[in-house]
Amino acid sequence: MITIEQVKKTYVTGDVEVEALRGVDLTISDGEFISIAGPSGSGKTTLLNLIGCIDSLDSGRILIDEKPVFELNKDEKALFRRETLGFIFQSYNLIPVLTAYENVAFALNLLDLDDKEIKERTMAILKEVGLEGMENRRPNKLSGGQQQRVAIARALVKNPKIILADEPTANLDSHTGEDILKLMREMNEKHGTTFIFSTHDKMVMDYAKRLVLLHDGLIQSDETR
Ligand SMILES: Nc1ncnc2c1ncn2[C@@H]1O[C@H](COP(=O)(O)OP(=O)(O)OP(=O)(O)O)[C@@H](O)[C@H]1O
Ligand SMILES: [Mg+2]
Repeated sequence: MITIEQVKKTYVTGDVEVEALRGVDLTISDGEFISIAGPSGSGKTTLLNLIGCIDSLDSGRILIDEKPVFELNKDEKALFRRETLGFIFQSYNLIPVLTAYENVAFALNLLDLDDKEIKERTMAILKEVGLEGMENRRPNKLSGGQQQRVAIARALVKNPKIILADEPTANLDSHTGEDILKLMREMNEKHGTTFIFSTHDKMVMDYAKRLVLLHDGLIQSDETR
């Protein structure tokens, strides 16, 4: 479970201050499929980065499984991120010189697994995301949708409790984007992984089981369907 309590975040650039989050309260249960939506600049990326322990907060608290993540030291935080969180990005962020297989297997490098287990887990997850037979292709030989499938496999292969996806379909045409949403939803149901994804696309919002709307750094509505 993720508990976000009165989280505030202000960015300061020179003498300009932007209040990106102005007091956000949100509780997300295990296994949710939740969309953080809202117009450009409303604070979606800021919120995801805070949940992902990528950025620091100014005030408030974030607890993940009752752990106050911002009170962990640097090493504890790194370990926690590695074990608990998976990330999917708008621009896929694959390593161009590695094949699909290598991009996914790479995520397992820091876990203490033997080669056989790495191979089994990597092949199994690539198959699950529909990339069987494409394991040896580099990202530039894959379509955008296929690259995002590799990124989903890479995020899932560690079996994290939570996957954070910032605008995962923004670079895809609507048909491919829909396929990616369906895949994420399937993985959410099959593995019980919590998916938190941001979007400003109505079609993407419609796939969410719960829709949180941000506006100017505050939650405007929170609706479960
Ligand atoms: N690194 C930064 N430095 C300064 N200001 C920032 C920084 N990151 C975000 N902001 C500002 O904080 C506010 C919230 O930004 P954020 O990126 O969280 O919005 P968003 O909802 O993700 O927008 P988009 O839909 O365009 O991705 C915006 O006004 C933005 O300009
Ligand atoms: Mg954003």
